Amino acid sequence: MEFSIKSGDLRGRTSPCLILGVFEKRQLTVPTQLIDAASQGHLSRIIGKGDLDGEAGRTLLLHEVPALAAERVLLVGLGPQEKYDRKTYGKVMAAALARLNETSAHEALCVLPVSAPADLDLYLAVRDAVTTALDKDYRYELTKSEKKPPSPLQRLQLWIANPQETNLAKQALRHGQAMARGVALAKELGNLPGNICTPTYLADQAEAMAKDFPALKVTILEEADMAKLGMGALLSVSRGSRQPAKLIVMNYRGGKKDAKPLVLVGKGLTFDAGGISLKPGPDMDQMKYDMGGAASVLGALRAALELKLPLNIIGVVPASENLPDGDANKPGDIVTSLSGQTIEILNTDAEGRLILCDALTYCERFEPAAVIDIATLTGAIVVALGHVASGLFTTDDILAGEILAAGDRAFDRAWRMPLWEDYQSLLDSNFADMANVGGREGGSVSAACFLSRYTKKYPWAHLDIAGTAWVSGKEKGGTGRPVPLLVQFLLQRSGEL
Ligand code: BES
Ligand code: MN
Ligand code: ZN
Repeated sequence: MEFSIKSGDLRGRTSPCLILGVFEKRQLTVPTQLIDAASQGHLSRIIGKGDLDGEAGRTLLLHEVPALAAERVLLVGLGPQEKYDRKTYGKVMAAALARLNETSAHEALCVLPVSAPADLDLYLAVRDAVTTALDKDYRYELTKSEKKPPSPLQRLQLWIANPQETNLAKQALRHGQAMARGVALAKELGNLPGNICTPTYLADQAEAMAKDFPALKVTILEEADMAKLGMGALLSVSRGSRQPAKLIVMNYRGGKKDAKPLVLVGKGLTFDAGGISLKPGPDMDQMKYDMGGAASVLGALRAALELKLPLNIIGVVPASENLPDGDANKPGDIVTSLSGQTIEILNTDAEGRLILCDALTYCERFEPAAVIDIATLTGAIVVALGHVASGLFTTDDILAGEILAAGDRAFDRAWRMPLWEDYQSLLDSNFADMANVGGREGGSVSAACFLSRYTKKYPWAHLDIAGTAWVSGKEKGGTGRPVPLLVQFLLQRSGEL
């Protein structure tokens, strides 16, 4: 889909379709009033018949409106004027696009209100329009014999009242497109089955991205390299699998030579059966999404590369499978991590922290400005926050503020959880420096506590995305979260916003 920004007189514009808004109680927006006047009250006469009362998301498609050059007018209900906000805007935009795709219009000019006192401004409205449209456009097809036809709508033009804001709107278009492509990449990697999307596949994807964007340098550490370094925790997980583990390091240097890098670390469990502590059968297929953190790192990096953000960013993805096997970790096994700390593996299903801890220690060599790890780490975070917010853990209040604000602005929200010392004793072990599990209660906090023991040398935050990386049920599929949050964070750090 292509996007462009338009302004100026609407009445004489030829277009396959004009999208116009109507608030509840049949209140026309200002541009809708202008079009109504030009058509000698045609729109208000039809609305007066009661076919569209303005309920948010309702649509009414009109053909051959008098005195208009546009072929069609799509009226969309905006809900009560005083309640109009960003969420309504998104809902309305999605409804309009869905209705348009039932027509044969290949192009449309969207004239919806782009500001709301609480939370919507021109920049966000344009960006949200792009991300909403591209979100609806994503389809998983790789392993389907029948490919769905592309949606008829090929070009979406966004009308803005003030032509002086064209540059701002174009910036929002660029940002939205990069964000959406990052989201699509993360969705696709998540949706791919475990027998295609293996650790090797993820490594190949990183290398393919480096081909597309020469500013990216990719290094893959093989198991032998990891053994030489002493990554005993990571390697212990992969021992139970026939697929070799990979440590994928993606280095983008778009910033000043001496600027410290931001490091994104993504859990890349391409399938998590639990290991010897085998998971129950129902829904186990969904554990192909256990590489959602890795997918979001690739997606966010892709956006940063496309936008040529003036930052140094390093993506680190420890990738492995977690399967039961004669050589797999056993409950009670003790391994030595790269940091030198020993770990008693009481539950082999708590494998994410085992691969992450070595990756996090490895990050020390980059002298990071900050490290954010992203992981589908615990079922407990789903119990705590459901599927709305990702869980944020950090003791760094400034970093927390930045990440929470980024989540709000990208409409990809996170909620801060505690990481107090009081929880650390949950990880006490009689036989090693720590256990890899802290019990059911506060399970997502003890998981974060575990990681905190490997991140003392730099500012660090952890996002638990077990509840947000994919949706189950009839619409089962990757969400691409938290790519929007991460890209927003990078935009903020780059000073582009
Ligand atoms: N990948 C899972 C976490 C998960 C579970 C994500 C369900 C999404 C839905 C992780 O590796 C895991 O198995 N965690 C265990 C930890 C426990 C053994 C302490 C969990 O959450 O049950
Ligand atoms: Mn697990
Ligand atoms: Zn897992």
